[in-house]
Amino acid sequence: MSLYTGKLCLAPMVRSGELPTRLMALKYGADLVWSPEIIDKKLLKCERVVNENLGTVDFVEVGGNYKIPGVSNLVFRTLPKVESGKLIFQIGTANPELAVSAAKIVAKDVDGIDVNAGCPKPFSTHSGMGAALLSTPDLLESILKNLVSQGKIFNIPISVKIRLLDDKDPQPTVELVDRLCKTGITNLTLHCRTKDMRNRQSPVRAFLPEIIRTCHSNNVSFIINGAITNRREYEELQSQYGADIGCMIAEGAESNPTCFSLQPLTWNKVVKEFIETAESVSNYAGNTKYVILNQIPGKSPFYQRFARGKTNQELLSIANEIGESGNKIVTKVLQKIELIETKKELPKQNGKRKLEEEDEAQKEKENVILTKRKLEHKVELNAEKVHQVASPL
Ligand SMILES: Cc1cc2nc3c(=O)[nH]c(=O)nc-3n(C[C@H](O)[C@H](O)[C@H](O)COP(=O)(O)O)c2cc1C
Repeated sequence: MSLYTGKLCLAPMVRSGELPTRLMALKYGADLVWSPEIIDKKLLKCERVVNENLGTVDFVEVGGNYKIPGVSNLVFRTLPKVESGKLIFQIGTANPELAVSAAKIVAKDVDGIDVNAGCPKPFSTHSGMGAALLSTPDLLESILKNLVSQGKIFNIPISVKIRLLDDKDPQPTVELVDRLCKTGITNLTLHCRTKDMRNRQSPVRAFLPEIIRTCHSNNVSFIINGAITNRREYEELQSQYGADIGCMIAEGAESNPTCFSLQPLTWNKVVKEFIETAESVSNYAGNTKYVILNQIPGKSPFYQRFARGKTNQELLSIANEIGESGNKIVTKVLQKIELIETKKELPKQNGKRKLEEEDEAQKEKENVILTKRKLEHKVELNAEKVHQVASPL
């Protein structure tokens, strides 16, 4: 048994996985939370500051952007009284020595160090990090080995998050998994898509039994990631693959951080509580807004009003106006749960196909809304030159 065994986890998400999201995820049932990816070189410029007022531990960039001290140069913030024992820090790296030096900076404030070997975005891969590491397994292996041997000094587990190498042939991924497991890591998370697949594409789970066997034979715990959006799916996957399998949720939690509960909240309640949580840890308002715009259905008349909000207080006063009207609009997560429940009630014969068709139509609808929202978002964010709390993925 490791820290990761059988856990339901919040995925690493740049910008969307800052402290307020992690606090809500934990409150509503996540067992472990991942930090957004932070690049080794960035972390190496940080100093650790205990923030007595908030009860947080802050990592602030020395010589960083001092426009708003403690805000514009804040790289990472954790609230130990809630996150302690449950926080995995994800590092972006392509260098075994830098990885260890950076890990040492945060080691005593986090419960595990995870290496990002799955991000396919050019800014990450062009410097050899993220999914580029899947093509340089020798380098990835030496990063993990270095972290494992140094991690022992801090008594901190090391893990890695990868993608599938091939969606038709299990062998390349199984061989890589075996190799990585032999570095001494404690956990491996697999995003069940290849680096060329987009999040809207269905994950490939066909090779899971073999990959899970490979992890277990090396005494490494395993977490499934990709298109899991709620606790019921986690329970279904555990009954299929074993109770020691963990699951990790990204986009589901981005749109509703209460999805870890069997009864997630409706979006009006999510948004209000999110802003209150953000305010309680002085989260930068630009980031609060970025996250809640992902929680609000695009068709809500409140969307544009939130998009114009400037401070956490302003956002909260808009949230207070939503009232019960927000109960009628369900989020992506709740819709999926409803579908799961319908599935149980549908007659066997045509029910499954109908459900799949509805699911596809729903996905299509969501994609259109999502693209529209992201565009609206970009315009809004560019206009305001909103500061980014962490480096973009
Ligand atoms: C907004 C956002 C930011 C992300 N940032 C990271 C990251 O920092 N590190 C990482 O390994 N993956 C990152 N990912 C990928 C997710 O962790 C996850 O692997 C992917 O979204 C698939 O999971 P899902 O189907 O539950 O969304 C990010 C995804 C999203 C949507």
